[in-house]
Amino acid sequence: MGAGKTTVARMLGLPAVDSDDLVEAAAGKPIAEIFRDEGEVAFRLQEEQAIVLALGGGAVTSPRVREELGDALTIWLDVDVDTCWERVRGSGRPLAQDEGEFRRLFEERRKLYAEVADVVAHDVHDVVLAVAGIHVERGALPRLRELVPGDGQVALLSDPHVAGIHGMDAQLALGPRLAETHELPPGEEAKTLAAVDRLWQELRLDRSGTIVALGGGCTTDAAGFAAATYLRGIAWTPIPTSLVAQVDAAIGGKTAIDLPQGKNLVGAFHWPARTVVDPALLETLPEPQRLEGMAEVVKAGLLAGEPFWELPDDELVRRSIAYKAAICLRDPLERGERTLLNLGHTFAHALEAAAGYEGLTHGRAVALGLLAALRLSGRDTVVVEEVLRPEPVRVDRDRAWAAMKRDKKARGGEPRFVLLGDDGPVSGVAVPEEDARRELDRLIK
Ligand SMILES: NC(=O)c1ccc[n+]([C@@H]2O[C@H](COP(=O)([O-])OP(=O)(O)OC[C@H]3O[C@@H](n4cnc5c(N)ncnc54)[C@H](O)[C@@H]3O)[C@@H](O)[C@H]2O)c1
Ligand SMILES: [Zn+2]
Repeated sequence: MGAGKTTVARMLGLPAVDSDDLVEAAAGKPIAEIFRDEGEVAFRLQEEQAIVLALGGGAVTSPRVREELGDALTIWLDVDVDTCWERVRGSGRPLAQDEGEFRRLFEERRKLYAEVADVVAHDVHDVVLAVAGIHVERGALPRLRELVPGDGQVALLSDPHVAGIHGMDAQLALGPRLAETHELPPGEEAKTLAAVDRLWQELRLDRSGTIVALGGGCTTDAAGFAAATYLRGIAWTPIPTSLVAQVDAAIGGKTAIDLPQGKNLVGAFHWPARTVVDPALLETLPEPQRLEGMAEVVKAGLLAGEPFWELPDDELVRRSIAYKAAICLRDPLERGERTLLNLGHTFAHALEAAAGYEGLTHGRAVALGLLAALRLSGRDTVVVEEVLRPEPVRVDRDRAWAAMKRDKKARGGEPRFVLLGDDGPVSGVAVPEEDARRELDRLIK
């Protein structure tokens, strides 16, 4: 600070780019406000991600530029030549005057792009995934050894059920990097202090090691929390195997365990070194578990305004992940925009609490919550009815209403909602009490 960097640039006659300006432009507010509202950690995260350098198409023909790209995450946005030509023809750009010449140049440069690129992206969603460190590929599991960053030792964690189905493939794929395997208890039992304590004591990895979590959201939440805390934090790579984990739990860096007082009450933000998503793993997932994940897919699609649920599996997974990941990159610590991901969840949490977290799964509760959120938004509910087939639940109405008024996002006992507006989703919306209560009642039989 105050050393004279800008003066140096002026003396050299070179353009100066100030990373503070970039962060301010991206956040839409001054640094002082980012510090005040979000804290220094959030500012540093934004600073790390501050720069997208849009390199001209010919820049990499210079060996010096190629060398400088060394440590930067270099993404080749590989779009087909016809599309590019359509976009630039008649634009007056010097190298886009003649179609034949343009195509020749395109072909010639592709080799260089392939050489410098760390990641090949075909659209903006691929770019988001690359920046978030998420690798989505059918058949990725067998290539695990190279996909887990670094070359250090790996501890493989999974629940007994998933270990029995995919554990051997993962072990074979990790090969000599595999130093330890650990079993976490099935389901929410993994997300207890007792399970994490046992794991902390069993782990032998040093700080250069990586925890690899193969399993559903319970496994990735507990393993991620262990990675965030063991030796004050080591690298981890989730390999989500359920639809819930692929599109939701393993995305965004939230890790947690439960307390008797409530779910996810102890945890940490700990972004994975990489997330490896192989949609082929979903083929062994039972239908009810798939429906659990579809609730979050429909939620993401409604928020994005695109029918993700109609896409074939690989694309459904890729688009749902990219939607959530982009929001989490913009708001890593959930200070603002990320709360949109709670669409339908205020109702869902109230129903789950009223059911005493028994006999009503989160996905079923979210399906019902989405119905209520759509109705309060004045929207049609047919998509939710057809894709998620929600059934009203038998719980105590007063208990559900009391839980809703206690919700984390309630202000002064007034529940707030995420609703869909004409220009996209909005959070923190106050709704007249009688309307909220009426919609909650409609979900209960
Ligand atoms: N961290 C976050 O941001 C976040 C977001 C959403 C949910 N979550 C958490 O995720 C958890 C729920 O995740 P879940 O539904 O995946 O639960 P889970 O981990 O218990 O998995 C559900 C069941 O599916 C089985 N399974 C998983 N993959 C399989 C496969 N490929 N083939 C066959 N069976 C398979 C598991 O063994 C388990 O029996 C909750 O604890 C929730 O709080 C966290
Ligand atoms: Zn949810």
